Amino acid sequence: MSDAVASGRRALITGASSGIGMVYAERLAREGYDLILVARRRDRLVDLAEKLKRGNGIAAEVVCADLTDKQALARVETLAGGDEALSLLINNAGFAGYRPFVSNDPEVIDDLVDIHVRAVARLSRAALPGMVRRRKGAIINVASLLAISAVLPPDPLPSRATYAGAKAFILAFTQALAGELEGTGVDVQACLPGRVSTEFHVAHGIDTSKLPPAMTAEDVVTASLSALSRREVVCIPALANPALFSELTDAQIKVFRNSAMQPTLAERYMT
Ligand SMILES: NC(=O)c1ccc[n+]([C@@H]2O[C@H](COP(=O)([O-])OP(=O)(O)OC[C@H]3O[C@@H](n4cnc5c(N)ncnc54)[C@H](OP(=O)(O)O)[C@@H]3O)[C@@H](O)[C@H]2O)c1
Repeated sequence: MSDAVASGRRALITGASSGIGMVYAERLAREGYDLILVARRRDRLVDLAEKLKRGNGIAAEVVCADLTDKQALARVETLAGGDEALSLLINNAGFAGYRPFVSNDPEVIDDLVDIHVRAVARLSRAALPGMVRRRKGAIINVASLLAISAVLPPDPLPSRATYAGAKAFILAFTQALAGELEGTGVDVQACLPGRVSTEFHVAHGIDTSKLPPAMTAEDVVTASLSALSRREVVCIPALANPALFSELTDAQIKVFRNSAMQPTLAERYMT
């Protein structure tokens, strides 16, 4: 764990009732963190909190909240920015909502944006002033490898325009935030797992037969916490050669600089 986090010992985890969020909770409890566990399924959270308190002697608070609901989100924002210091915020809650965009339910589109975009931004906004003031803390935002998948066709990957777009927001948001937070003592990370074996696909009846093989949630969390201690802004748990991601960002910078410094119309658009 990085110095930024080590002595705070209080973490808020969204989507802690299953999968990756539950593993973050178990891992941090073992490291002695007090926890605030957020999700909609209260029974699951209560069982987890009791188990983690008994096994690790930590404090664990359960917050039953639907993060697509503005009032419920406001309650969680109050906890993230409250008087008690928060050393680690993990924005992990999410769901797939895979479906061809033209036939997707508008409510599902709203929920995807609310949970992956609004909740991530608002909880970060709530937590950061205290972290910056204390010069200590970190935020992990769980994105997805699908954040960089937009140019791949929808087969065999799922139809995912809103999900991929929302996860791309998390990636760009975190990278830009890392620049703003440079020198403050606060670290941010976007974690981009590929397919993970959790309830994510099963609970929503998604056919996984054509999808790539799945990593365990345990391995994702191991990578993410290790990346945090190395202050990596982007963690791709299965990427063996990190230079590949640097090539991608280098190309982005090249395209950006090349066009931003050139206010004249590109020749191919001149008729
Ligand atoms: N599994 C994968 O293949 C995969 C790959 C890349 C990225 N991810 C990302 O990893 C994160 C965790 O997913 P997972 O794989 O662990 O799936 P999961 O087992 O289905 O867990 C999702 C968590 O999000 C919570 N959640 C969903 N909607 C919510 C809402 N409206 N309000 C509050 N909490 C909500 C769920 O709790 P309740 O239902 O109790 O509310 C649950 O705790 C997600 O952001 C997902 O996009 C997953």
